[in-house]
Amino acid sequence: MLIAMDGPAASGKGTLAKNLAAHYGLAHLDTGSLYRAVARDLMAAGKPLDDEEAAVDVTRSLDPDTLSDPGLRTPEVGQAAAKVAKIGAVREALHKFQRTFASKPGGAIIEGRDIGTVVCPDADVKIYVEASTDVRAERRHKELLEAGHDISYDEIHAQIAARDEADRSRKISPLKPAEDALLLDTSDLGIEAAFEAAIKLVDTKLLQR
Ligand code: CDP
Repeated sequence: MLIAMDGPAASGKGTLAKNLAAHYGLAHLDTGSLYRAVARDLMAAGKPLDDEEAAVDVTRSLDPDTLSDPGLRTPEVGQAAAKVAKIGAVREALHKFQRTFASKPGGAIIEGRDIGTVVCPDADVKIYVEASTDVRAERRHKELLEAGHDISYDEIHAQIAARDEADRSRKISPLKPAEDALLLDTSDLGIEAAFEAAIKLVDTKLLQR
């Protein structure tokens, strides 16, 4: 089974995808970490975020073992990721990696912005996770405070809104629900309730096939 999960920043996709992966025994890929890693490596090389040639070089030499580096989860890297995500050649190279992952024999759940629309249009189940900007900013603020970052709620709110706008309005692979995506609004749902709602969506969809 292949599950494609998309949604805006801090919508709760990460936790949900991890839980679904454990429940259905699927491999899990957070594609945001790929774009974050390209941004991190580009900044470490002292290159501007719109240097296409350097970004492609960095993408080609990306080390998959560094994708769980906690340094990827900072607000700065998130904003930088949205900039490198506009570069078509970077997206193409990362799409190859994602499609190889999607073809894993045991099945997979892949989360990002363009998984149901571009990377895996034939996924068995597509879920688009939403939540209000206020709720998403609250969740991300709490997460960052817990990880020791000193940043205000208002700053996070503004960053999330700006990143959503950039992701939705870009020309290549913009953030949007696939036509056949199942919508899941987690604004009023805690982690457990969102997990149960997602299982229900997946199981119902599988029965219809
Ligand atoms: O964790 P959060 O929802 O804040 O973001 P993320 O999933 O780690 O993604 C960081 C950035 O990478 C996004 O704002 C997008 O600009 C970009 N991205 C993308 O363009 N396509 C994807 N499939 C995943 C992420």
